[in-house]
Amino acid sequence: MRSWLLLLPALPLLAADPTWREVQPILERRCVQCHQKGEVAPMPFTSYAEARPFAKAIRQAVAVTQSMPPWHAAKGSHPFRNDRSLTPSEIATLTSWADSGAHDGQSARPSAAANGTSEWKLGRPDRTVKVPGFAVPATGQLNYSFLIVPLGLKEDTWIRAAEFRIDQRGAVHHINAFVRPPGSSYLAEFPKNEIFSPTVAQRAKRHASERVFDRRQLVLGYEPGYEPMPWLADGAKLISAGSDLVLEMHFNPNGKPVTDFSEFGLYFAPAPPKHRILAIDTLRDLDFQIPPQAPGFISNATMTMERPVRLLSIQPHMHVRGKSMKVQAIYPDGRTETLIDVPRYDFNWQTTYVLATPIDLPKGTRLESTAGFDNSPNNRHNPDPAAVVKWGDQTTDEMHIAFLELVIEATGDPEKLFKTVPKMVAAPPAR
Ligand code: HEC
Repeated sequence: MRSWLLLLPALPLLAADPTWREVQPILERRCVQCHQKGEVAPMPFTSYAEARPFAKAIRQAVAVTQSMPPWHAAKGSHPFRNDRSLTPSEIATLTSWADSGAHDGQSARPSAAANGTSEWKLGRPDRTVKVPGFAVPATGQLNYSFLIVPLGLKEDTWIRAAEFRIDQRGAVHHINAFVRPPGSSYLAEFPKNEIFSPTVAQRAKRHASERVFDRRQLVLGYEPGYEPMPWLADGAKLISAGSDLVLEMHFNPNGKPVTDFSEFGLYFAPAPPKHRILAIDTLRDLDFQIPPQAPGFISNATMTMERPVRLLSIQPHMHVRGKSMKVQAIYPDGRTETLIDVPRYDFNWQTTYVLATPIDLPKGTRLESTAGFDNSPNNRHNPDPAAVVKWGDQTTDEMHIAFLELVIEATGDPEKLFKTVPKMVAAPPAR
């Protein structure tokens, strides 16, 4: 009896020597969207043979440096729908797999189908726009490229979803799809249906009296790790009659020359929705000045809601000196809540954090964003610690924006959302 009891503690240890059978589903869930052929990550993990040589590196990346999977929101704020971080037990499995010899076991099954670029995940779109072939060289740095395509919509149109089907995933740093309403001054001097690369000053040119939402609105952004997701059952984005679609594309040379034919699809809503989903970029600070060498400069942005809204997602945006960002809601009853906390911001990962359940922000809620910047030589991404750094479009300038997606009444005027109409980004002097 006694000796039988003594055997018990050994059982969990036996179970703790995982093989590929336990490891494969974790990699499929959390890693292979990027770690597969043609994707952003340099090495695929879609089979035992591919992953085995990296067992130690995987252990290092998930348990020691925690650089993988890339996910920068601190635990403890709201849960996110697209959270790709590992649970402690997943980390333990990957670690003990590496430590116990990274065995195959007798478990190999064919690896699950990879992303595959041939199918639209959300079904066949009602309208598509295709990049007409952009030649990405093997090396070098490219400016942002743009493509303007008239949508030819005769009336205001609601879209229930949008999707990117990225062609050269290894060479696309990001693509943003905007709608440009008729009369907008955004890139007004440029031709349609051909790719061009404007200067920063040309991109910023605007009419002095233009309203924020009459210039352009974000429909959807693509960044590596992107997974197509419908918005909400009863919410849609509005594209007004006569609008153009503008693709802002940033390609990243990736060692071999490729030509990109990415596509963007729009899904029309069957009926006008009760709610409108609106992407805004007005929780931002335009007036900061980061002194030379400053290791911990803080910039604050604030915005008070004049109407009740629901918050769907947050995307912190800074450039290479960006170090941290925290967005908080201060409710009318005085309660403060942290909406997102990114303690170690990484410019290479422009993640949109989608809330698992949207958050109601009553009228009078104040949103506050606090951004930290490191302009010291200790920041290895800092191009020039001697510079005074201000707001600007170049990665050597800085930005402080918390992009938000809000749900508002379908008939509401977006300009009336704010107590004070947000300041516009001033156009830099023409160069
Ligand atoms: C959103 C895309 C993405 C996801 C998801 C992802 N990786 Fe990566 N991974 C990359 C990229 C890109 C690199 C290349 C290095 C870099 O740019 O950071 C990389 C590099 C690595 C490396 C090389 C060492 C290092 O730290 O750079 C390892 C090991 C690794 N990933 C393991 C994993 C594992 C294990 C997972 C899942 C638990 C995972 N990655 C999930 C994109 C991803």
